[in-house]
Order: sequence, then structure tokens, then C-alpha cells
Amino acid sequence: MYIGADYYPEHWPRRRWKTDARLMQQAGFNVVRLAEFAWIDLEPAEGQFDFAWLDEALGVLHDRGISAILCTPTAVTPAWLARKYPETQAMQKDGTRMVWGVRKDTCYSSGTLRLLSERITRAMGEHFADAPNVIGWQTDNEFGHPVCYCATCRSEFQDFLCRRHGTLEAFNAAMGNHFWGHKARTWEEIPIPANEDRHNPSLCLEWRRFYSFLNVRFQRDQVRILRQTCPKHFVTHNFMGQFDELNYYELAEDLDHVSWDNYPVWNRPEVHYKASAAADLMRGLKRRNFWIMEQTAGPPGGTYFYRNPRPGEIRKVSFQQLAHGCDGQVWFRWRTCTVGREQYWHGLLGHDGRPLRRYKEAAQVAGEYHKLAKRLTGTTVRSKVAIVWDYDSSWALKIQPCWYGNTYPKAVGRYYDALFRAGVNVDMVPPSADFSQYKAVIAPELYVMPDELAERLSEYVKGGGVLLTDTRSGAKDEHGRMHERTLPGLLSDALGITIEEYETMMGREASEGFGYAVVGRAAAVAGEFTAESYADWARATKADVLAGYTDWHMRKFAAATRNAFGKGCGYYVGAVVAEPEFYDAIIADVLKTARVWPVVRPPAGVEVSVRQGKGAKLLFLINHTEQPQEVQVPAGKKELLTGKKTGDSLKLDRFGVAVIDM
Ligand code: GAL
Repeated sequence: MYIGADYYPEHWPRRRWKTDARLMQQAGFNVVRLAEFAWIDLEPAEGQFDFAWLDEALGVLHDRGISAILCTPTAVTPAWLARKYPETQAMQKDGTRMVWGVRKDTCYSSGTLRLLSERITRAMGEHFADAPNVIGWQTDNEFGHPVCYCATCRSEFQDFLCRRHGTLEAFNAAMGNHFWGHKARTWEEIPIPANEDRHNPSLCLEWRRFYSFLNVRFQRDQVRILRQTCPKHFVTHNFMGQFDELNYYELAEDLDHVSWDNYPVWNRPEVHYKASAAADLMRGLKRRNFWIMEQTAGPPGGTYFYRNPRPGEIRKVSFQQLAHGCDGQVWFRWRTCTVGREQYWHGLLGHDGRPLRRYKEAAQVAGEYHKLAKRLTGTTVRSKVAIVWDYDSSWALKIQPCWYGNTYPKAVGRYYDALFRAGVNVDMVPPSADFSQYKAVIAPELYVMPDELAERLSEYVKGGGVLLTDTRSGAKDEHGRMHERTLPGLLSDALGITIEEYETMMGREASEGFGYAVVGRAAAVAGEFTAESYADWARATKADVLAGYTDWHMRKFAAATRNAFGKGCGYYVGAVVAEPEFYDAIIADVLKTARVWPVVRPPAGVEVSVRQGKGAKLLFLINHTEQPQEVQVPAGKKELLTGKKTGDSLKLDRFGVAVIDM
């Protein structure tokens, strides 16, 4: 098991390097990530490379048994590059180029940038291929941003559209360009749809796909070279969890495994649903375990900074990721920097470089990870429940959110959080996944639904699957055009409902919205709730009504339904409901129908996750609260961190964790 820190030897005098390496070794660290912003130090002048300092740093680390992941350093270009080749700087909407001096400010359709990126990648790959302690590569750093609006991007966009649609007739039809007379007669006429609230949503969707493609292509160029020069090394990238500007499935395709950067400690201590959801998505990108390449190590911040992880929290945050399939962890950063934009983004060590509380907690985690390593080998999370995570739907909802504050991650979160509270593991899967592997599939706001997908979902239910979908699902086709069929379109039989009308309940001003009272109409969803923001006027044609409305004009409509279809069951939720208890009730019913039970039922604030494989089954319990918690667990098993046998229940300290060998 690899565990360590993001390290910047180029920030510190050489005389300090040995101290750092010694402290890392004493903490049980065996890996660092290096050099993602060091292009200027590696290629100080065009075509002149200097790898001596990095060789030396690698040597110092090697002496302490520490391996390294090197980065292609393209997230920040050297000043000489921006000066000589100004076309490599991204162009903003107003037609001016970004001013060099921040980071992530380049244009990915610039041939010059692509060539220079390939050259530094090749030079590094050739030089470090046989370095004894280099084990892998990270491409660039956190792909995403900025969007460039230059003429090269525009003509590349036109080529992209030509490749996708073949003819202008097909393109005009797919985009619905008869509207407002926007038919293109040559590819060169097609504009960049720079304003999503004014341009054609279909063209905006294509532009988002194009922007994602540019990033994927930029990375692919580097990966191809790393595969040629460094066949022994793995190649990864540090993703950003639920960041949804890029198609992460495609970005992950060329890599050996996904890594991601996890920063959940900001506000008051809370249950970190999102960090688990992100972990499940990161595992889902390749259906493979992942690494954390940047793990929270201290108060985050820049201009302002936020709270300090409390004692036990650094450990808890780490174990949460381990529980969801993390196979290697790197803390960001080793030592807090004294200079530059991130002086307040704290590392394990403070500005003073002393190994204090946060360092000691990290050392404890490293020791525990090493202790568990053998048992963890070959294990992963195996879920019976999948949530569909779809970038097209997420982008179409950015372009037209339909109501204030509607975002795709939020829509997914309503169900994810309920599954978390129920103690059930989830796989995040693309719409192309084989649904038949799952007992239940949750597809929130699957706004873009090609017929082929609707047919597969319907077949899934017919064949015995339990499907839940909700608001705005199936409204659009793959080109972002509204379907002509009455909603829920091709899912009508599977869901047993018809939606002839719908509305949002927001006012012209954010504060002027209204809500509908929702009442349970089945024992499974007893209680009173509030629909806010959006309601389908959904009628059950065949489905059972689980919840309905009380307003005079809404009484014949359903807020939630359940429909037996073929061998399976289709659930529909037609409103955005304020109370989490509503989603807990719906999810409990879905799990019951699907016959999915948690291994243990967690008390509020305790997370349950299971890793299994190679004959091992490990139950992780994580207390996200500042109060001790008591969890009912199977008796007579070994808790691996303490080595003690379990009784009927187990006490978790505040922020406590336990790993039970089942
Ligand atoms: C990450 C990034 C790091 C560092 C960190 C703290 O998103 O990859 O380079 O900037 O945030 O700001």
C-alpha cells in the first residue's frame, strides 16, 4: 500500500531535503508526488532540459525507501513559452488572451502548446524511465478550465461537428437550426455558443462535448508518449470528484487507474456524503479502485482560510476513502508553503516544518494502512445498487437547469445520501453500463435520454430490475431536443404513469417561490412533506401511488409512484421534496422491493462500507460525528485495528473508525 505526501523539493533549500525524507520515512510514508508545476525548472529555456535537481531529490528520497510519482508539468507554462508563443494562452469571451501568471490558462487547440507538451513529456519520460524509485506518472494537474474562445478553437469545433454529423443537413436537423433561422450553409458559419443562456441549447451541449474532447485529447497525447518511454510505470491523473465540466469516463479511459483530490473539511464538522459519492464515482470511472492524490491535511484556503481538522478527523477522512476503494493515498501537501498563492493551504507540516499533531495523525494512519494492506489486497466495493451518473444530462442541466439551484450532483445527492444513511454501498455507473448486474438502478434527473437508453432501462425492469427515476428524466434526446412523446416517453409502461403537464414553483425572484404539501398515501411513505421547486402533474395509469398532493388542483396527481412491470418494478418521484426523510422512505421501499439489505444498520452519522474479494470481506464503520456511537455488529469477528473480538455492539469514539474482518 502506497501512502505519502505531495512534495515540492524545488520550494526548499537542498539542505532540508534529507530532513524531509527522514521524517517521511519515520511516518511510514513510502511515496511522494513531484513536479506538477515545475516546467520552468525542468526546461528553463526552450529545448534545454535540466533534470539534475529532480534526480538529486529522487536520490534523497530513494535513500529513505520512498518512491515517486512524477507529473507532466503542463498545468503551468513557463514565462518564456507564453512570451514567445502568445497563442498558447487561452482567449477569453471578450477576445483578449488570459494574462500569464496564474495557472491552467492555456488553449488546448494550440498546436504549439501540444507540441511543447509532447516534447517535455518525451524528455521526462526518456530521462526517468529507469529511475529506480519512479513508479508512475500523473498527467498535468486537475484537467478542467479554462474554456478558450480563440479562432483555432472555433475552427476545431467546426471540424468536430463535421466529424460527428457528417453533413450540414444532418447537423442542422440535429440542432433544430430551423428555429430562429439558424441553419448553417457552410461549416465555417457555425459560431462558438459563448452564452449558454442565449444560444441554442443543442449547440451549447455540443460545445461542452467539444471542450471535454480537447482535454481528453491533450492528455491522450501525453499518455501515448509515456506508454512508449516508460512501459514499467503506471499513468494516472488527479480528478476532482464530482467536478462535471469534463466527461470523466473518457478522461479515465487512457489511464491505468483514477486518482482524485479530496478536500471535504471546510465548514462545521458534518457527514461527508459528497466525499463518499465522489469516491464511488471515481471507482466507477474505470470500475477499478482508485488513489487519493491530494488528501486534506490541514485548514484549506487562499485569501481566507477555513477550519483546522479536529483531532481524529484527518484519520477519519482517510478511512472513508479507504472504505470506498482507495488503494493509495497522498496528502496535500507535505509542508505548508511560505510563499505564493497557497500560503494558507495547510499541509501536514506547518510553515515551521515541524512534525506536530497533523503529522503524527498521518503517521498513525500510515501505520494502520500498512497493517491492513495484506487483508485489503484484491478487495473492492461490490454493490447491488447503481446510480447512473451521466455527463450529458449534467451538462444539459447546466445549460437549462429548469429551476433555480437545480444541479445534477444535487439531484443525485438526494438519493445517494439516503442510501448512505441506509448503510448500502453504491456503484456510480455510466448510462452505457450493463444494468442487469444490479438489483436496483437509481437514475435521478436523467434529462438526456436517447431512445436506446430508455429501451434498455425498460427492458431492465421487465427482466426483474428495480428502477427509480425522477423529475425531468427522459425529457431530451441525445441532441438536446425535447422528445415529442408524452412523458415519461418510452418509460411509460415500466413506470405506469403519464405526465401531461409539469411546472416549477419558483417565483421570478428566488425568494418568491411556493411549495405544495405532499402526503404519504402508502404505509411506506407515511408523513407530510413539502414539494419545492418542481412538480410533475403525474397521473398513475397503472402504478400505485406512494405519495400525493393536497392542493385542490393537484389532488389527482402523484408525487411518488411504484409500478410492477414484467418481473421488476419502476419507481417515479415527480417532485423535488425538501425533507430528507421522504427520500429515506422511498429508498427503504426500493431496497425492500429489490431485496437489498445493509450488512449493519448504522446509527445516524455513522457510515458503513464493505470491501470484499479474494476471500476477504471487510466491514468499515466510520463515525462522522463528534459524539461516541454504538453500532450493532456481528459478534465474534476480529476488529483489525485493535485486534479485539467483537461483541454484539461496538463503540466508536468521536470520529472513530473500525474495520471488522467478516
Ligand atoms: C488542488 C490542486 C493543488 C492545490 C490544491 C490547494 O485542487 O490540485 O495544486 O492547488 O488544490 O489549493
